[in-house]
Amino acid sequence: MLLYRIVGGNRLNGNIKVEGAKNAVLPILAATILNGGESIIENVPALNDVETMLEILKKLGCRVSHQDNTVTVDSSSITSNEIPTVLVKRMRSSIILLGSLLGRTGKVISNYPGGCAIGVRPIDLHLKGLRLLGAHVEMHGQIVCQGKELTGTEIQLDYPSVGATENIMLAAVLAKGTTLIRNAAKEPEIADLQGFLNAMGAKVYGAGNHIIRIEGVEKLHNCRYTVMPDRIAAATYMAAAAVSGGEINLENVVVEHLHPVLDKFRESGCVLQTNCSRLRVTAPGRLKAIDLIRTLPYPGFPTDAQPQMMAAMCTAHGTSIFVENIFENRYRHIDELIKLGADIKVDGRIAVVRGVPRLSGAQVSAKDLRGGAALVLAGLMAEGVTEVEGIEHIDRGYENLGQKLKNLGADITMA
Ligand code: EPZ
Repeated sequence: MLLYRIVGGNRLNGNIKVEGAKNAVLPILAATILNGGESIIENVPALNDVETMLEILKKLGCRVSHQDNTVTVDSSSITSNEIPTVLVKRMRSSIILLGSLLGRTGKVISNYPGGCAIGVRPIDLHLKGLRLLGAHVEMHGQIVCQGKELTGTEIQLDYPSVGATENIMLAAVLAKGTTLIRNAAKEPEIADLQGFLNAMGAKVYGAGNHIIRIEGVEKLHNCRYTVMPDRIAAATYMAAAAVSGGEINLENVVVEHLHPVLDKFRESGCVLQTNCSRLRVTAPGRLKAIDLIRTLPYPGFPTDAQPQMMAAMCTAHGTSIFVENIFENRYRHIDELIKLGADIKVDGRIAVVRGVPRLSGAQVSAKDLRGGAALVLAGLMAEGVTEVEGIEHIDRGYENLGQKLKNLGADITMA
């Protein structure tokens, strides 16, 4: 199993370009099935999940080319309605193909998706939305959705699910009539998907608000689109400055997307300077504890930045309280942080982090993507050597994290 070996204590300084957003590019790639033509997508991050999605598109009959950070997908001929199980199991976002494959061909067969084991991760809201659009959905071990003629309708989401919102958008763009999604997810990645769909000729309005309107169209056309920067990767790099007492300039950020985390970094004692698409983070010698971090749907504090912020709070001055409201099993990094000397108590969704003077290097194991990033951050500040096993989890969602941190002065090697 691949691991990162980190010798902690170095201050991280320098510039880092934030890659394209994993959670935007994956639904956008799924959406390329819809236009039956060519989609050129730029600022695509080099991630294992992107490779998996491209593999799935090829298995479905698409022609795919990938040059640096540009991907071209030609979905003129779709030759299969079945998403390969071995690929579905690798990541959660394969579920997004239900909406696009159903919308394009009228039929899709898939297994339950894989992805980070951070909770049950049901898909009831996805399937409810597809059924309301007129699809017949059966669940006998596999998911089979069929519906040649989807019809626009009003859909009320019980919870603003990101994936369910995306799946319904994808299935509705070629449906007859208008679809309204009420209590839609408001994450920036939803707005990016809307931008891509409209670039191919769809009529989607309202992303970022709680009601999204999709007016069905007959046909979509070729398009070119640039993926938004990854706000969670940006938050992770901010945390790297924070834990190391360094100063990092982030390039290619959308500051607006980061407001939920900027406030918390300021509360921890970091000085932040923003200028258009650039953000400078200057950390104090020792962080201050943050009283309360509650994860919420956007524009609340993002659950995907909770583990990273928790790592930073392990040696802060004072006690921080975390409440993880989105996923019921997103504290799997805590046992590993405790191996490094952290003082963390958990009761259900609440974690209480009492800052200790220092962490000490140890062997730890990444259990999921963001938890793995948190362990790397903790290793940057731990005294001595920290080995983080299971970095394949991290490579799913970060573009060359180890190399990027090394370029900023971290003593980190892959072994
Ligand atoms: C997306 O997951 C992201 N993944 C997650 O990022 C992110 O944490 C999450 O949104 C929340 O922002 C991708 O975009 C690929 P949800 P998704 O549907 O779509 C419940 C990362 O680290 N729910 O908004 O799965 C569910 O149980 C990953 O990059 C239902 O009850 O998130 C959970 O409690 C991790 N029924 C909550 O909603 C459903 O049908 C949030 O899920 C669907 C979801």
